[in-house]
Amino acid sequence: ESYDMGGHDTYMHKEIHEQVDAVDRVLRGRIDDRFSTVHLGGLNLDAREARGVRRVKILGCGSAYHTGLIGAQLIEELARIPADAEPASEFRYRNPVVDPDTLYIAVSQSGETYDTLAAVQELKRKGARVLGVVNVVGSAIARETDGGVYVHAGPEVCVVSTKCFTNTAVAFALLALHLGRIRDLSVADGKRIIAGLRKLPEQIAEVLRGEEEIKKLAGEYANAKSMMFVGRVRGYPVAREASLKLKEVSYVHAEAYPASELKHGPLALIEPEVPTVAVLPDDDLLEKNRATLEEIKARSGRILAVAHREQEKADHTIVVPRNEVELDPILMGIPLQLLAYHTALALGRDIDKPRNLAKSVTVE
Ligand code: AGP
Repeated sequence: ESYDMGGHDTYMHKEIHEQVDAVDRVLRGRIDDRFSTVHLGGLNLDAREARGVRRVKILGCGSAYHTGLIGAQLIEELARIPADAEPASEFRYRNPVVDPDTLYIAVSQSGETYDTLAAVQELKRKGARVLGVVNVVGSAIARETDGGVYVHAGPEVCVVSTKCFTNTAVAFALLALHLGRIRDLSVADGKRIIAGLRKLPEQIAEVLRGEEEIKKLAGEYANAKSMMFVGRVRGYPVAREASLKLKEVSYVHAEAYPASELKHGPLALIEPEVPTVAVLPDDDLLEKNRATLEEIKARSGRILAVAHREQEKADHTIVVPRNEVELDPILMGIPLQLLAYHTALALGRDIDKPRNLAKSVTVE
């Protein structure tokens, strides 16, 4: 991809639409059908070392941290290694216990975010093994880490991350599949995930074909006082990222919560002027999520659902295509990028350069 606008008015719009090709690129040349696994050439982690990993800790900031939340779930699900994600900015200030059996992973689009780089340097100083999941080739974080996975999203110009977010989530799916197949993930499950990954570019194109509908919805919700974003487990990082996206680009206040946390406080905010975006994959938590929609409806809240089928409790549903449940967060985030974009457009915001923000935060 180039810096040429290719008929788009903003880089954000262009980059959202580039996701079909970008996802194709992160997969290209990496799938090994013979062993139902993937090859990640730059990982520098042999099978014996991979088997010795007891825990995975993922570090990043903003959207990169959110992809880390998705990555941690994928690694736990596919490789059955305990994994979690933490903002790099918090990690580096809390004198963390650095464990030799933990694999640390730094995530960054630019590879130059100061807090993430400082976390990597602190880890290296303490003797940890640190991998990078990075977009910009040869960037500081790519150089300082012991190895890693390039995300191959191509240049991302808009301050608001879209295609890099999606490609990083796919890169984590590849890493989780690789670790899983070295450990206990079966050939059948490996095949299933590979088939799901291969379907993604066409399914992203399908979501993007629904843009006109999402534009209309953005018009309906653009004047909200505030927006609530909720999801459970796989839906939760998607809700967090969608809330950040909306805030950054449209300046509409938004909050993100695990759906199960609503009743512990945020339910007090629900009223017709505070609509909820609910991320409801068709997984084993769908019924629980539907109960959450009922709780919101009972408080006169409006609901926009992102789901695999029409949700009758919701005022509107954006239907996304089904894939393997583990990969749901990848596709479900995409309509919400369009929602943020069209909300910002309806409100006349400076989409590629939102106020107060820089593309990469290279200072403390
Ligand atoms: C994303 O939309 C943001 N602009 C921001 O949160 C960003 O993801 C964060 O600053 C981290 O940047 P990086 O990926 O370049 O490290």
